[in-house]
Amino acid sequence: MLARVGIFDSGVGGLTVAAAIHRHHPSLEIRYVADTAFFPYGSRSPEEIVERSIAVVAGLVEAEMSAVVVACNTASSAALERLREEFSIPIVGMEPPLKPAVERSRTGHVAVLATPGTVRGERLARLQERHATDARVWTIPMPDLADLVEAGEVEGARVEQMLREALEAPLADGVDAVALGCTHYGWLRPVLERILPAGMAVVDAADAVARRTTFVLQEAGYALDGSGPPREVLCYATGDAAALERTIGRLRDAGADLPPLSVARPVA
Ligand code: DGL
Repeated sequence: MLARVGIFDSGVGGLTVAAAIHRHHPSLEIRYVADTAFFPYGSRSPEEIVERSIAVVAGLVEAEMSAVVVACNTASSAALERLREEFSIPIVGMEPPLKPAVERSRTGHVAVLATPGTVRGERLARLQERHATDARVWTIPMPDLADLVEAGEVEGARVEQMLREALEAPLADGVDAVALGCTHYGWLRPVLERILPAGMAVVDAADAVARRTTFVLQEAGYALDGSGPPREVLCYATGDAAALERTIGRLRDAGADLPPLSVARPVA
């Protein structure tokens, strides 16, 4: 059977993951849900995030997706176990790429930028225990950063200032690898690479999640048709579809490496 993949996030962040999956499998059918009516997840309670995640995944299961990718660190942290209990299809989650950041660091000092929800969550604490006992880890909550990205603001004075302030002390401490612990921040890679000193590693998890998705689909017996023509990622917003389109337009204008996509308009 041919695979069809559902991906969700609170907004445009998970499109960094959709782009990576599309790069691996351009003809794969991908349906993307931006839960913009409930954005941002980062400041919501774990209970609210579980409730939203279940509602969104239920919709993707109803649309007969073969697997779902939770392209959101905050939702994975709060809801991944619950989603796997609730649904029988494979669910791929994600976590901040702390391990690869530690591996790439020469000083052993690394920073993780994430939403307040992810920074508070047990998943990151467990990750630190497992993979970073010998490293010095700065976990930095960024309460408003995803909001700027969700508005399409991925360059300019405000984002630069926010990132410079957050990273000033870690850099002074010798941090030489930054893990992007929120999928929205993937769109900030150009600005980060510009403001950070040369030689710093900026690590995101999108490609690792794409590889994991391939593995999970093949393991479940699905075919990943490599021969068909490239497909657009079909995007849905639970909030305003026009606002999602505007943000995507701003990302595109800023040079973001988006997959080919179209935003579905609700039938009025
Ligand atoms: N993109 C989400 C993540 O990876 C969070 C953005 C939000 O706060 O909704 O954590």
